[in-house]
Amino acid sequence: MRIDIISAVPELLISPLNNSIPKKAQDKNLLKLKIHNLHDYGIGNYRQIDDYPFGGGAGMVLMAEPLSNCIEKLINERDYNEIIYTTPDGEKFSQQTANNLSLHSNLIIICGHYKGIDQRIRDLYVTKEISIGDFVLSGGEIAAAVMTDAIVRLIPGVIGNEESALSDSFQDNLLAPPLYTRPESFKGIEVPQILLSGNHGKIADWRLQQSISRTEERRPDLLNNK
Ligand code: ADE
Repeated sequence: MRIDIISAVPELLISPLNNSIPKKAQDKNLLKLKIHNLHDYGIGNYRQIDDYPFGGGAGMVLMAEPLSNCIEKLINERDYNEIIYTTPDGEKFSQQTANNLSLHSNLIIICGHYKGIDQRIRDLYVTKEISIGDFVLSGGEIAAAVMTDAIVRLIPGVIGNEESALSDSFQDNLLAPPLYTRPESFKGIEVPQILLSGNHGKIADWRLQQSISRTEERRPDLLNNK
């Protein structure tokens, strides 16, 4: 899978996407991640990328031309399955969205910045607009990093034990069960005996029950979505 991210502040993406699982995905050649600095496509001597909004109002808008130049370069090189724009007014990101996007070969993610991007880029190129929640971030980079992380861990082979991604919270609309590791006793709290029993069938039943009761208690809306 290849993901191209277009950003005015690429530094924000470097660390989250070059460590841990996203790094492993790239090291295993299961992910090609390219971060494009929008300033490289800026206009004039000052490499301008933003301007005042027509009609007035606070904040700057990312100009159409630098974004278009970068997008055109990419779409002339290969076919993209989706051109995604990160924005608080997009559809809400979920595990299901991550599952669907992880099946694609080539994605572009455009990070908004300042007030947002010129509407004509949305009209001309963007195929999917995604929000990571009902709050406003300073830019789309952190949203793009969140989405990319959630997507790449689902690419087959990225996580050693395939089961590990399948047993994540939300994969089956259930939250994950509680986890314990050594020591068996910590500050007077014992690990549930069943987990020490070696009976894998009973452990799987216990975990499922724990997942169900945790979901009923914390996120009953997920059970109604089934
Ligand atoms: N950019 C600013 N806020 C955002 C959000 N909540 N989701 C995605 N992109 C954003």
